[in-house]
Amino acid sequence: MLRRLIAGAAVLAAALTTLATTPAAAADAPLRELAEARGRYLGTAVTAGKLTGGYADLAAAQFNSITPGNEMKWGSVEPTRGTYDWTGADRVVAFAEAHGQRVRGHTLVWHSQLPSWVSGGTWTADRLRTLMTDHITAQAGRYKGRIDHWDVVNEPLNEDGTLRQSVFGATLGESYIADAFRAARAADPAAKLYLNDYSTDGVGAKSDGMYALVKRLLAQGVPVDGVGFQAHLVLGQVPASLETNLRRFAELGVDVAITELDIRMTLPATDAKLAQQKADYASVLRACLAVTRCAGVTVWGFTDSDSWIPDFFPGQGAATPYDESLAPKPARAGIAETLAPVTPPSPGVCSVTYAVTSQWTGGFTAQVTLRNTGTAALNGWTVRWSQPAGQRVTQAWNAAVTQTGAEVTAANLSYNATVPPGGSVSFGFNGAWSGTNPPPAAFTCG
Ligand code: XIL
Repeated sequence: MLRRLIAGAAVLAAALTTLATTPAAAADAPLRELAEARGRYLGTAVTAGKLTGGYADLAAAQFNSITPGNEMKWGSVEPTRGTYDWTGADRVVAFAEAHGQRVRGHTLVWHSQLPSWVSGGTWTADRLRTLMTDHITAQAGRYKGRIDHWDVVNEPLNEDGTLRQSVFGATLGESYIADAFRAARAADPAAKLYLNDYSTDGVGAKSDGMYALVKRLLAQGVPVDGVGFQAHLVLGQVPASLETNLRRFAELGVDVAITELDIRMTLPATDAKLAQQKADYASVLRACLAVTRCAGVTVWGFTDSDSWIPDFFPGQGAATPYDESLAPKPARAGIAETLAPVTPPSPGVCSVTYAVTSQWTGGFTAQVTLRNTGTAALNGWTVRWSQPAGQRVTQAWNAAVTQTGAEVTAANLSYNATVPPGGSVSFGFNGAWSGTNPPPAAFTCG
């Protein structure tokens, strides 16, 4: 058989086929998509009664996790003993499910927003424990399989890190926490079970207390899956140790999450304050991204019209990423920019070299080399071209090559999917030709 080596090679720069994502584009992308691409969720607390119109549209479009702001608290679901009202909670869960969102259940056991029949009652330890676990069984059981995270116990600690003497702490001691988690696990085995508190965001006496508590619970085999950090923060005062603190909990073997983020300022808001707030939101998001076990971030209300801050901190407000008329504030851009892809692909990230290395009557062998000319690794690649003179690929190696009409697509195999910046990967094929065998005019790769 006559074989003739064709020396010429065609070097053709290729255009990127995937959509380029830049930080500017990220600013317009839905926050939930940006978060998803970074392996995190972005959530918001909502008010069931407001889930219509523009408020509902934004909540659905921008967030992929929903927390009922009040509707799952004991006082909301069982205001009088034995009479349950699930209306608000059901509405929030249905909304989330209709929009492909997860639900953070908030909260099963908390000293606040308790019905007065619980907080004002006189209970023996046994009676209160049963009351508490019955409540958990009823509520977590009702939503079994539909809740991503449950805040099983909320705000168990005092500022100095000791056990809060709530009706539960005072009557039952620390054991109520273990009992609550066990009851929640039994009622909904799929939900991740969280312990949640405020002022535990940075390293300090209270978070040291939380750290020791979680360690003790884990040592006893209590099913604690995660620790929530509420992060009700003050403008310009994001704790410098936030990331370190999240990391030390993660290293105990639990997930962590920012569960109630808002960043309040003294009113009125000014451009300078809003710029500081943008930086503050960005640092909180960065801390979560830096810790692998940080599951996500929830803002406590996404609009300033739906925030608890003005009611609870007189003179303070403007704490959320959207203003009272649902317009995005700089803080929203701070979130988007922080969640933007780390190394956005840019046009012209690869080039293709094509060489016919051997040719004989009716057949030829070609080698194709893809070079990564970008700054990010390619994780999976394809090279496409069209055969100019009716050539047909008959056999290929080091790539999965398919041909439809004149159009050829070569995709990576599992062992050569990754191409580092500056690196290259080659594959080859045998083809059939007749008449002439010119090289393809252009390639696309990416
Ligand atoms: C707040 C709600 O947002 C308000 O509407 C309600 O009046 C009081 O509670 N820590 C928590 C949340 O765990 O449940 C609180 O939510 C805010 C502080």
